[in-house]
Amino acid sequence: MRNVTLETLYIHPIVQKYVGRSGMAHAVSVAEKAFEIARESGVNPDLATKAGLLHDIGHYEWYQDGEWDYQLYKENDIHAIKGAARAHKLLVRCGEDLQNAKAIALAVLLHTDSYLPEGELQLTPLQKVVALADEADEEPGGNHHYRQIDHDTALRRIQILDKKINKYIASLRFEQTS
Ligand SMILES: [Fe+2]
Repeated sequence: MRNVTLETLYIHPIVQKYVGRSGMAHAVSVAEKAFEIARESGVNPDLATKAGLLHDIGHYEWYQDGEWDYQLYKENDIHAIKGAARAHKLLVRCGEDLQNAKAIALAVLLHTDSYLPEGELQLTPLQKVVALADEADEEPGGNHHYRQIDHDTALRRIQILDKKINKYIASLRFEQTS
């Protein structure tokens, strides 16, 4: 059972504010890509899509004299750390299962290694799905953060995704009982 839907998260003011800041079009399309990749790799699409939608919720605005300072951002960014904490708080507040909230927060934390010291990171299948989905939607120069989407289109795509996830989970349950 899903305690929290993507729609519940999408319409939440915290998501509108912070995910909107880093690009709602990117977030929605990463959630969609995460669904497909999760399904192909046997990962729970409910968790993968939530992490996909929320993965950039920790972004700051790195402005210097009214202009986005890419260098400043690259050197100081910790959006995955901030995002993991923010996503976790939001999910728990919305009533998400605590194990799920932890798994989603960890996938947000590890969706990029740009802020981590060099080294081998062993990602779980869920964490890999979210990192791959993000990568698949990235555009040169961070342009994916600026792609626009209107509220109704985003909401419609989120609702379609919720339906697909429900259907997928129901089909699994059917397999188990038959
Ligand atoms: Fe991203």
